[in-house]
Amino acid sequence: MGGEERMNVFRVAVLASGSGSNLQAIIDKLHGRPAGRDLGRPEPGRTDARQADAVGKDVGPTIEVALVVSDVPDALALERARRAQIPRAVFPFKDYGDREEHDLAMAEAICAAGVDLVVLAGYMRLLSPVFVQAFPWRVINLHPALLPAFPGTNSIADAFEYGVKVTGVTVHFVDEGLDTGPVIAQEPIRVEVEDTVDSLARKIHAAEHRLLPAVIRLLARGRVRAPLLGSRVVRVDWDGEDIWIV
Ligand code: GRF
Repeated sequence: MGGEERMNVFRVAVLASGSGSNLQAIIDKLHGRPAGRDLGRPEPGRTDARQADAVGKDVGPTIEVALVVSDVPDALALERARRAQIPRAVFPFKDYGDREEHDLAMAEAICAAGVDLVVLAGYMRLLSPVFVQAFPWRVINLHPALLPAFPGTNSIADAFEYGVKVTGVTVHFVDEGLDTGPVIAQEPIRVEVEDTVDSLARKIHAAEHRLLPAVIRLLARGRVRAPLLGSRVVRVDWDGEDIWIV
């Protein structure tokens, strides 16, 4: 890849209301790093010599967490951003007349930061249509179950108590519904006989910390195609991301 492409930066805003362990995974795995490595896959028009020369080199833009946004002033996620010297913005819900006013203020701050992608990583409020429409196909959410099963805020326990034998993690585009947007990627997790809600939650969180950064990398490299009109099927070219994915 030429120097010009490496100069590119893919800017991400992360919205989080809580502990921010997923934000931490994004910071540790992606912040300030290139979105991919050349895996040596032959490309049309590339000679063997040029192919060999390119293998192992950085490809795609550098990913930068440009802004961390929270609705909770003392969220640990904000402290994680502070430690990583990432700009923060706080929008306490009580400071605004209604959800739309609140979300418009957030959207303005995110627009001003010039981001390419908005990641909901434990952001615990439903976003109003005005926010979603401001960033078409540029808002993704992480959910701790295999959607469309177990939407909502208590999914890990809901799945466990239902007695499912497989659950997992979903990353999806955000639409105006609650956990209803088109699925980008899922990682399944088996529920073992000896599991408890807590042990299952630990497995789910470990999977989240793998899947979400992998999807952000793919988005940064243009390997995720939004659905065509009338469809909800997202096409993803995994290109060697080394995690087990369905
Ligand atoms: C994650 O389980 C995510 O799936 C859900 O909220 C949780 C956030 O965890 N939407 P953390 O704040 O990233 O630790």
